[in-house]
Amino acid sequence: MEVVILASYDEVSRAAAREVARVLSTKPNAVLGLATGSTPLGLYRELVRMHRDEGLDFSQVTTFNLDEYVGLPPNHPQSYHVFMHEHLFQHVNVAAQNIFIPSGAPANISAYCAWYERQIQERGGIDLQILGIGADGHVAFNEPGSSLASRTRIKTLARQTIEDNARFFERREDVPAYAITMGVGTILEARELLLCANGRNKARAVALAIEGPVTAMVTASALQMHRQAKVLLDQEAAGELKMREHFDWIEECRAGALGAQLGTEQ
Ligand code: GLP
Repeated sequence: MEVVILASYDEVSRAAAREVARVLSTKPNAVLGLATGSTPLGLYRELVRMHRDEGLDFSQVTTFNLDEYVGLPPNHPQSYHVFMHEHLFQHVNVAAQNIFIPSGAPANISAYCAWYERQIQERGGIDLQILGIGADGHVAFNEPGSSLASRTRIKTLARQTIEDNARFFERREDVPAYAITMGVGTILEARELLLCANGRNKARAVALAIEGPVTAMVTASALQMHRQAKVLLDQEAAGELKMREHFDWIEECRAGALGAQLGTEQ
């Protein structure tokens, strides 16, 4: 795992956008896995800017979102469908037929989840999966206790997650208790993972995910099992890392003679 600690949230966002642009420069028809939440907002802003000012082209790209609340129609202001259209899709040139976001209201949930998994396979698998992290260490909506081999399915949200996400809803009671989410196993099959985190409220989850044991209690810790995982942190999110000096040292070495040969696979 490569851990990069940057000066600010803006730097995290710009570095994440450069990773997306790198993937698209070698594979214009890449499959991107996308996340929601406040963390990737800066990344999406930067991708929109790069599309506008630098011609970053999404015309051949396919996207798969990690998750969606169950029970929210796609036009609900707090649905992840609306979020993605507002913050990314309406500003860039991803073809509508190449956008996949889990439905929040499928007739048959398990058949739908199997279909979503099949779409990922049929499109060749995810090249780069963007991830945030919940305060309880979850990725997507894989709450503590989720199997590290899990696939796309319906999950009950943890109370803490409902509290955390209540800020986006008018009332706490409006936050759905269930979501359809890619599983940890689904996420681990992406060729590259990029987890971004900022702010002090993520510091504990980040430290547990990077330095703690691999455990279903902190599903982001599964990234330790992936060969190409990169974590971008601002200073606050890195605040509880015990190995901070080590991670800074590794990044310094990247500027040295063999730096270009140091991949994320370490
Ligand atoms: C939700 C999403 C996650 C996201 C997390 C953190 O639970 N399902 O994908 O990483 O929130 O959100 P934020 O970036 O707003 O802190």
